[in-house]
Amino acid sequence: MSIDYKAEIERLKAKLPVTVVGHFYQRDEVFEMADITGDSLELARKCKIDKNPWVVFCGVGFMGQSVKVIAPQKRVLMPKIACCAMARMIDASYFDDSVQYMVERGIPKENILPITYINSDATVKAKVGEMGGLVCTSSNAYKIIEKGLESGKKILFVPDRCLGQNFANSMGLKSCIIGEGECDPKEADVICFNGFCSVHQLFTLDDIEFYRNRYPDILIAVHPECDPAIVEASDFAGSTSQLIEFVAELDPEQKVAVGTEYNLVNRMRPGGNTFVLSSTKPECPTMNETTIEDLYLTLKSIEDGQPINEIVVNEHTIKYANLALERMLAIK
Ligand code: 13P
Ligand code: SF4
Repeated sequence: MSIDYKAEIERLKAKLPVTVVGHFYQRDEVFEMADITGDSLELARKCKIDKNPWVVFCGVGFMGQSVKVIAPQKRVLMPKIACCAMARMIDASYFDDSVQYMVERGIPKENILPITYINSDATVKAKVGEMGGLVCTSSNAYKIIEKGLESGKKILFVPDRCLGQNFANSMGLKSCIIGEGECDPKEADVICFNGFCSVHQLFTLDDIEFYRNRYPDILIAVHPECDPAIVEASDFAGSTSQLIEFVAELDPEQKVAVGTEYNLVNRMRPGGNTFVLSSTKPECPTMNETTIEDLYLTLKSIEDGQPINEIVVNEHTIKYANLALERMLAIK
């Protein structure tokens, strides 16, 4: 007999002290089951104040880890511990190498303020926390960099070069990328690690030109993980929540092409006039790993007293990663 996953998930959620969390990029059938949804910042804030002792997080690894770091008393399970491709580009040793790069070019360690995008492993966040730095997300990067600059130090921004450059550009700051051309930390305000999101690299100037030629009044809205040339050529850039809000406020007749993950764009504005800014399907492979069956099995494992896929972070990492995350959460 086949299992009615939706009904079983509803039964388990009603029975167990558990909150199901889902990022906007999740498959529709998984996303619909979530009690808490949002962009990375909203998910972190909402999970922190949520009362249930169990969290089942449908997203990518760094998101579940972040909940464990800000609320270590919670038991956090992930139906799939899928690692964001960008987060995988940096680890603690690459972080140390980036600090060393700046030190060798005349910036003493005590004059470096690291900021890590939340799309990074907890061990990288811990390194950042130990150096007095902060976490940021795509919805608060402007404010966090502004706060960082108050220290008078050079900003080391990891791992997303695009986010670092896009916000530096919008703030009129000079940026450079370690390993790309001449990156002299003395000449730049924001020194970026050379990481990127493979999904958001799919959007091109040709895509923008195609839509503008086809619909001259169309608006282009993109995520700031896109290349700076794409953000520059767009009408709006924002986090997943900010993109949803931007599109929701448009006149229903206003056409818009959106440059972010397919699942989100597809459910944004049913009824047409919203296009995916790409000729290919920009799916995040790791976000799409989680299926409704995985969600059911994870909830069932709690009912059976044998929880699976639990997020474990060691005490040292929790202590310092927590500093970096809490410094971010303290900024309204
Ligand atoms: P948001 O913080 O905008 O939800 O972005 C997360 C992400 O991974 C985008 O690729
Ligand atoms: Fe990571 Fe990119 Fe997927 Fe976002 S879309 S989770 S940055 S790989």
